Amino acid sequence: MTKPVLLTGASGALGRRLAQGLAAGGRRLVLTDIAPFPDPLPEGARFERADLEDGVALLRLAEGCGAILHFGGVSVERPFEEVMGPNIRGLFHVYEAARREGARVVFASSNHAIGFHERPAGGGPRLDARCHFRPDGFYGLAKAYGELMGRLYWDKHGVENVNLRIGSSFPEPVDARMLSTWLSYADLLRLVARCLDAPRVGHAVIWGASANPAAWWGADHRDRIGWAPQDTAEAFRDQVGRLTSGNPVAERYQGGGFCAQGYSRAEPSPRDPFA
Ligand SMILES: NC(=O)c1ccc[n+]([C@@H]2O[C@H](COP(=O)([O-])OP(=O)(O)OC[C@H]3O[C@@H](n4cnc5c(N)ncnc54)[C@H](O)[C@@H]3O)[C@@H](O)[C@H]2O)c1
Repeated sequence: MTKPVLLTGASGALGRRLAQGLAAGGRRLVLTDIAPFPDPLPEGARFERADLEDGVALLRLAEGCGAILHFGGVSVERPFEEVMGPNIRGLFHVYEAARREGARVVFASSNHAIGFHERPAGGGPRLDARCHFRPDGFYGLAKAYGELMGRLYWDKHGVENVNLRIGSSFPEPVDARMLSTWLSYADLLRLVARCLDAPRVGHAVIWGASANPAAWWGADHRDRIGWAPQDTAEAFRDQVGRLTSGNPVAERYQGGGFCAQGYSRAEPSPRDPFA
């Protein structure tokens, strides 16, 4: 892809790494965030501060861009009213800009869109990306909405999009859950680069996790973009393998602590057919 790439959430933890890594790969970047960009601007990049709720600004920023990497917005569980603006209305602005430019969208979705799936017991079957959405909060619900927005814009307008259901993208795994969910920064960068370079993607959903033997996630559309993760969380097992939360809800479900946050249901019994 030779056209510039628009990156939202450029000042965030992942945005900063992507800005640096993609620029080093020779890509021209338009960076945006509501917060100032904290690093020296990478070569070939420009930065403009904007709120995702400002649809006109998004249209202007996307002008001439071949792809939008949408990494901006609320990135943790928050009350509905806080999630609504950036993650619901903002996402609509991103897709409208992509439609006008004929640009591809790469959306930072999340495992929290499916967080209430139980963890597979003892190496049980891995979850297929075509599984039902089971969001574990308003944040995860907005990610599910974002993936469906991608479905709509592909079916109705031919806007291509890749939805990355990111697990835990941090410098290193910090607890036992991340032995299953960790995505290294290097794997993330290679994943995003493949999303940009693949000739055709349609509407795709890809689990964002490294090659972790303890992974919970299986089939997805990675073959469409020709990506395979290279790193593994297993190397950190001795360091973090015993670091569990001690919370039964967090440990039962894939979304971990997000599931336990504000949980008010009586814990279902394993024999409950509607559990
Ligand atoms: N880091 C992970 O492990 C992980 C896991 C799953 C999904 N994700 C998703 O990846 C993306 C990046 O995650 P991150 O860890 O870098 O989060 P982050 O919170 O560090 O970055 C998000 C950025 O969005 C910006 N933002 C928030 N509201 C905005 C608004 N109204 N207008 C413009 N910008 C706004 C923030 O200023 C911030 O810089 C997020 O969408 C997050 O949901 C991350």
